[in-house]
Amino acid sequence: MENLSRRKALTLGVALGIVGAAAPVPAWASAGSTAGTGALTGAGAGAAAGPGPEWIWDEAADPLMARMIDGGHVPAINRAWEKWVNNNDPIPGGLPSDFAAYLAQANHLPSWADQAKLQRAADFNRRRDTYLFMLYGLGSGIMSTVIPREAKSVYWSAGGADMQDRAAKTFTFGYDLSQLGAFKPTGQFVVTANKTRVVHAAVRHLLPQSPHWKAVADESIPISAADILVTFHSLGTYVHQKLLEWRIPYPAADQEAFLHMWQVAIHLLGVPYEHIPKTWAEARAQSQQVLTPILTPSTEGIALAEDLLGLTAQIDLGVTRGFLNEFVRYVLSDQVGDWLGLRRDYAAAALVRTAWPAFILFREGLSPVMPGTFYMFDQFIRAIAMLFLNKGSSGTTTPITIPIGNRAG
Ligand code: HEM
Repeated sequence: MENLSRRKALTLGVALGIVGAAAPVPAWASAGSTAGTGALTGAGAGAAAGPGPEWIWDEAADPLMARMIDGGHVPAINRAWEKWVNNNDPIPGGLPSDFAAYLAQANHLPSWADQAKLQRAADFNRRRDTYLFMLYGLGSGIMSTVIPREAKSVYWSAGGADMQDRAAKTFTFGYDLSQLGAFKPTGQFVVTANKTRVVHAAVRHLLPQSPHWKAVADESIPISAADILVTFHSLGTYVHQKLLEWRIPYPAADQEAFLHMWQVAIHLLGVPYEHIPKTWAEARAQSQQVLTPILTPSTEGIALAEDLLGLTAQIDLGVTRGFLNEFVRYVLSDQVGDWLGLRRDYAAAALVRTAWPAFILFREGLSPVMPGTFYMFDQFIRAIAMLFLNKGSSGTTTPITIPIGNRAG
């Protein structure tokens, strides 16, 4: 039985491009252990003999947010930080003093952040935005619905009731992360990441009060550092592997910069440095251990996927829903497509599988032959990009707000 599920996980991993020939290694590597000699999951022998990341939440933000919610301060915080957008904006006035003190302490880059690498990553993001939009949006976005803990917590939190709004906020994260000056004082990503960290802390206090979530959850507090690492693999590690698989020109320095950007991002979300993979090889091995085997459908995830894919129906993608379903199958495997009940369209499937690689070759200047489907793909990509670039309803500000309750039912 164990072999069977391991085999299934491997097959799925190969399809997702996140399983290689790497030898099995412990799931969670320890402090700076690029060799992956760290702790085994839950063995309590993690970094510096501390707990593994599944036992780490957020010591700084969690108790604070519990106090803010119980004390009724959240609406005032949401109002006060609406205009707090740029990394070098002063901490806004009108915040409870302990909350302001927390933000002042949390809202800066870690000492190991390397501006040159971050700049290179930003430039890479700009040059590769086409593929990144497609992969984050249709790959990682839909993959999140078959990560059961994520799907269940997203579904039963307040934001689950309005996926359009939630997706817009999540896209804000990707958008701000991908901007040229994202990590510079005039950029916006440090603020966006800190808002997100605070939202996660709020969710850790709120969701355990939801009878619906409690009925389906397999953990008592959501969004551990381990859960965040799993999500990182569904974003960064997955996209990295797909770019390699698609043979997009991707020099080693860009690969390193892209990893560095993600390392800083997940650290800003509260994951301790020692638990963050130090190389793509380590990330890939960890992903193979902690992401691929847990992918599975759930009632909540199926509903979320339908919501997300339905969202795209509101804009003209220049392609049919059948084509969209098949593109998702192409980037995530038929296994995932079947789990989510994505209706088959075999003509579209054949088109995606032959024309997409030709489209990439042409775009990258690796083939002089422009595929007849070029404009269709081009329009498709533009439409998906619009979802990112619209940045939700507010346009210019970062619309992330702290929830004060859960989804009702
Ligand atoms: C909220 C990003 C990991 C569950 C958010 C928001 C962003 C975000 C931008 C704010 C937007 C919103 O309110 O919807 C990320 C990133 C992650 C990550 C980049 C990792 C790299 C996780 C994980 C879980 C999770 C691991 C659960 C297992 C949630 C929930 C909300 C949220 C429940 C609140 C939605 C609401 O407003 O009700 N996340 N997240 N996130 N996230 Fe995450």
